[in-house]
Amino acid sequence: MLGEIGLIGLGVMGKNIGLNIAEKGTNIKAFNNSSKKLEAVQKEFDGNFSGYTTLEELVENMDRPRNLLLMIPSGEPTSKLINQLSNLLDENDVVIDGGNSFYQESIHHGENLSKKNIKFIGMGVSGGEEGARYGPAIMVGSNNNLDGDLIELLSSISAKAPHDCVGFYEGSGSGHFIKMVHNGIEYAEMQLIAESYHLLKRTGFNNLQIADFFSSLKKINQSSYLIEITSEILRKKDGEYFTVDLIKSLANNKGTGRLTIETSFELGVSAPSIYSAYDARVQSNTDYFWKTSSTSRIQDNKDNLDDSEKLSLQTALAKSLYFGRVASMIQGLTIIERYNEVNKFSFNFEDIFNNWSGGCIIRSEMLDEFIEINNSSDKLLHSSQLHDLLKKNLKNIKEIVSSSILKNISLPVFSTSLSWYLNLSADDNPSNLIQAQRDFFGSHTVQLLNSDEYIHIDWREDE
Ligand code: 6PG
Repeated sequence: MLGEIGLIGLGVMGKNIGLNIAEKGTNIKAFNNSSKKLEAVQKEFDGNFSGYTTLEELVENMDRPRNLLLMIPSGEPTSKLINQLSNLLDENDVVIDGGNSFYQESIHHGENLSKKNIKFIGMGVSGGEEGARYGPAIMVGSNNNLDGDLIELLSSISAKAPHDCVGFYEGSGSGHFIKMVHNGIEYAEMQLIAESYHLLKRTGFNNLQIADFFSSLKKINQSSYLIEITSEILRKKDGEYFTVDLIKSLANNKGTGRLTIETSFELGVSAPSIYSAYDARVQSNTDYFWKTSSTSRIQDNKDNLDDSEKLSLQTALAKSLYFGRVASMIQGLTIIERYNEVNKFSFNFEDIFNNWSGGCIIRSEMLDEFIEINNSSDKLLHSSQLHDLLKKNLKNIKEIVSSSILKNISLPVFSTSLSWYLNLSADDNPSNLIQAQRDFFGSHTVQLLNSDEYIHIDWREDE
């Protein structure tokens, strides 16, 4: 096991992953410019912790080759710190960025540090505070062969399912790329759950009944970490009110979902469920002052369905939720597949599913179904079994989306997932007219049926 590791960043994730590492017997040597902060954090460690208030002191007090783990905000803070470290570290030292960095920045960091023979690892860490402390899913990207002791440490702190939920991917940015796609799928799953809650709430279910709906998904092997925590969230009360009813309908984000979408645009991959989830957060912060009436969330809506109608709605909704989750996963995996093709990588879905089967935010029973299909088909995303997961739930999602729209209930990810599937499973689509329009006004040429040739048509020439 690694004797020591440098730790920079003692926020929620940094401190908790440090505790996880120290528990495995590796010494933590932490930097923070505040000695008070170091003293406060040190109290939580049972030994195995020493603190330094300058980067120089930290580096001087570490044995070579040094391993430094950065757990700080992505973007400018990470780039600035890596630049500072590049002037302090020696050949064969290792910089591990455990933040939510954009994969293209990690590729850049890897290239820059390699000029000084300093190794760089871009490491996606998923599972939030609890995951960092007791077992995250870890997605490691590196251009270098990793030291055995470091591999052992990362495996030992990772979640168990029961295998180690740690994936090792070729390329400095690849760990953060896989984590970014994980987050895009996470956004879609979170929004699908939120839309399910919204529909049930607007149909007269109270929070406890909705919590029971989400809990019931376990019985049909369609639960997930996000579904389980949602059931817990909906049961929490604050005095006479449910806590969730006291929270503003506004959602922020730190950007990982947006970066997934931007990457899908760059790669030319259709990921509308993920986009709609991100856009729903943007819309929650948009106000055209069109709101007519505000249905109060504080008073439980009166039931307006009889028991049998409630049961059939929940059954259809459960199947629709699964449809949307399958669609979102397919879209995320398609981004990875296209990235492989474009960058000549060979990340395989088996490794990724093993990586995501524990500790991460999107861990779920659905992954078991994807693993089973992946093991029995050459090309998972083109397999008939995967198509069947969508087809068998199609009737239900059509019912849910159409009835919700007629009640003026917006379900963006449900609607987009359905529309995406209907378009991709249809015999034809109206893009022939798009070709014609582009050629009419811009002479962008068209391809005629049964020909690969591009030709321009003189649309105004009389027959
Ligand atoms: C995880 C989460 C986590 C997430 C942050 C911010 O895998 O543990 O995805 O890394 O990125 O909680 O999430 P937002 O992008 O929604 O702000």
